[in-house]
Amino acid sequence: MHTLEKHIFLIGFMGVGKSSTARALSEQLRVAEMDTDEMIAGREGMTISQIFQEHGEEYFRGKETQLLDELAGKDPCIVSCGGGMAMRPENIAKMKETGEIILLTAQPETIFEHVRCSTARPLLQGHMNVEYIAKLMGEREPRYQKAADWTLVSDDITPWEMAEAIVRHLEG
Ligand code: S3P
Repeated sequence: MHTLEKHIFLIGFMGVGKSSTARALSEQLRVAEMDTDEMIAGREGMTISQIFQEHGEEYFRGKETQLLDELAGKDPCIVSCGGGMAMRPENIAKMKETGEIILLTAQPETIFEHVRCSTARPLLQGHMNVEYIAKLMGEREPRYQKAADWTLVSDDITPWEMAEAIVRHLEG
């Protein structure tokens, strides 16, 4: 069993591989992992799409911020964040206080291949194409970059290999 000194937050655009990388990293480091979308959906008893539909995006964003507050008092773990987590400056500040932020990036074409069959991403419903993904990524890029302590490009490597790269980085 490994002990982390602080949380590891995996951030980045939808479909970049945060959840699968977090699971691989959890296996490699033998440290617990959690997924903010799963936590919120589980607590609300609804899918992310239902939460957006019934309560709106701001309600969901509030739940994300609340989770970060709760994590501050918990043992360090690996946290796979929903793609919008780094959009609120206060969330970036909270993550920086309690952990290291690792940004996963990929080309819009790669992202599209990962999300094209998904119906679980309300922000992409009705815009499931490379052009829209590229536009939204471009708008978000400055905040992702501002948040990131370290960045990993995920286009050509598997989640297991990404986790291995993160382990090497942590062992520095
Ligand atoms: C979102 C990303 C989703 C989920 C929600 C909003 C976003 O998570 O939190 O649909 O704003 O980028 P994934 O990045 O796990 O798809």
